[in-house]
Amino acid sequence: MTRIRSIVRGIGSYLPTRVLTNQDLEKIVDTSHEWILQRTGIEERHIVAEGETTSMLGIKAAQAALADAGLQAQDIDLIVCATSTPDFTFPSTATQIQSGLGITHGAAFDLQAVCAGFVFAVSTADKFLASGSHKRALVIGAETFSRLLDWNDRTTCVLFGDGAGAIVLEAAQGEGTAADRGVLTSHLRSDGRYRDKLYVDGGPGSTKTTGVLKMEGKDVFRFAVGMVTDVVRDAFAATGTTADDLDWFVPHQANRRIITASADKLGIAAEKVVITVNKHGNTSAASIPLALDVARKDGRIKDGDLVMIEAIGGGFTWGSALIRW
Ligand code: ACO
Repeated sequence: MTRIRSIVRGIGSYLPTRVLTNQDLEKIVDTSHEWILQRTGIEERHIVAEGETTSMLGIKAAQAALADAGLQAQDIDLIVCATSTPDFTFPSTATQIQSGLGITHGAAFDLQAVCAGFVFAVSTADKFLASGSHKRALVIGAETFSRLLDWNDRTTCVLFGDGAGAIVLEAAQGEGTAADRGVLTSHLRSDGRYRDKLYVDGGPGSTKTTGVLKMEGKDVFRFAVGMVTDVVRDAFAATGTTADDLDWFVPHQANRRIITASADKLGIAAEKVVITVNKHGNTSAASIPLALDVARKDGRIKDGDLVMIEAIGGGFTWGSALIRW
């Protein structure tokens, strides 16, 4: 049965110019390049400049995605921005990006699912497009996690980085099969019982401060692999596909060990796994579109390729989406 699919028209990303290496971190906290690399796979991350905000990163990523799609800003009628580091409590970062792009029509809103934000945003935009209410969406993951970190806490400050990525999704007619281009399926989960495993200890409705990131790293690790493999299997089941059908596995880039353990458990061959955590660190909602952009620009992801994205974030929130490029 024919149905509307959200096809990927373009992709872009932006990383702040300043690179913070593990060696630089050795001068800030009691850590070592070897410890960080061995436990996380991270070598360096990008950090925003003074005055550079999440929406500024998001605007640059969106402009790159529009250029890649050969579209004008005016062609967009929906902006969904996944972020946990908005410029302000309100208005939303999405409306700042909308304004920066010169768009005055359509709708723009933020979506907050921490590191799973981009998967939630893809799923949300897909449902808007499939309903027929909107035609072309900018789906953005943009973060300045460096501003949420306690730079005296070596257990967290070495893990994260800043950046933004964006895709343009466009409504198009599909056949309703797994051979269609576009978002084929998405699966979202949340369980608020785990809030204290990964959280920020402030907010406008509680402390009236921004707060800093707190994490029970070992617990997050323990839950992450089981949760993400569950939702990836849901995506396979919903589409009648298997790990062998995948061309690329593009997981949230939090930690190389979580990524390889998840791929192993799912039976996904190592050469199909896109890893950028070494160069970007964990950029939360931005990590998947940043990784997708790297793999698209270096020629790995080609038109027609089957791409699985998945992520887990604070809450916990977790999800997967299967996309034929
Ligand atoms: N440098 C040097 N030593 C450190 C550092 C550091 N940056 N951080 C912690 N240590 C020390 C600890 O103090 C501890 O020392 P001790 O044995 O003397 O007490 C030792 O290293 C081991 O600490 P653990 O916390 O047990 O280290 P672990 O092997 O669990 O690795 C890590 C920590 C990397 C955070 C790991 O638990 C992990 O990857 N967890 C997953 C969480 C994650 O990736 N979060 C990202 C955000 S979550 C998300 O995106 C959904």
